[in-house]
Amino acid sequence: MPRHVAVIMDGNGRWAQRRNLPRIEGHREGAESVRDIVRAARQVGLEALTLYAFSSQNWARPPDEVAALMDLLRDYLVSERDEILENEIRLRAIGDIERLPVHVLEPLHELMSASRPNGAMALTLALSYGGRESIAQAARQAAAKVAAGDLAEGQLDADTLGAHMPTAELPPLDLVVRTSGEQRMSNFLLWEAAYAEFYFTDVPWPEFRRQELYAALQDFSGRERRFGRTGGQIGPRAAAGDGRDG
Ligand code: FPP
Repeated sequence: MPRHVAVIMDGNGRWAQRRNLPRIEGHREGAESVRDIVRAARQVGLEALTLYAFSSQNWARPPDEVAALMDLLRDYLVSERDEILENEIRLRAIGDIERLPVHVLEPLHELMSASRPNGAMALTLALSYGGRESIAQAARQAAAKVAAGDLAEGQLDADTLGAHMPTAELPPLDLVVRTSGEQRMSNFLLWEAAYAEFYFTDVPWPEFRRQELYAALQDFSGRERRFGRTGGQIGPRAAAGDGRDG
């Protein structure tokens, strides 16, 4: 089982257009997938689920689509509040959330704060998020420490920079799922995905419900993760610690 799964929820617009519906209807149905996948993730015992809900670049979409997405986010935060708290889920956000309109920011801050003590699963929404932007921000924070004399320049290695990433408190990212057929990162969790596995499916996000998540988890369970080592080093005998495979 992966500990931390992240999802690029793609294909809402195409799902709607294929049905001659406005794109926003795809986002609305996509929000239903979010509800189902969050419940299923909690039930199967994932420690962390991170969802790419709105990228830094999505601000450039038509204003009515942006406004509709913001309304869906608010509706989600309001309607799921009690269930999130009852299920011991901690809600987090990554990204430049101060750009969000106040009717999203207010329930977001409230639920992040109310759910802070919860430890069963971390649900992280990437909002106004960009992977490059988050690396730049971590670099700025580390550079400020160097400038202040609190960090030696020579100590600024990958682990130290990683500790400044907004995801630093989450388990390492194990699996990135992307729906709807495209096979690219789209500026999502670039740093965190260094050793993640990828699962691509043609299923559009509005149709990605719990059975699809189970299929992704099943696929992940068959992957051999080597983290730069050889297969022999991480095989069953090596894991049993008998040393024969180094
Ligand atoms: C990508 O599909 C999806 C988005 C940009 C938004 C994702 C938002 C939701 C699933 C709904 C609200 C979120 C929450 C957390 C309640 P696209 O529009 O790029 O699809 P396309 O590539 O087919 O045009």
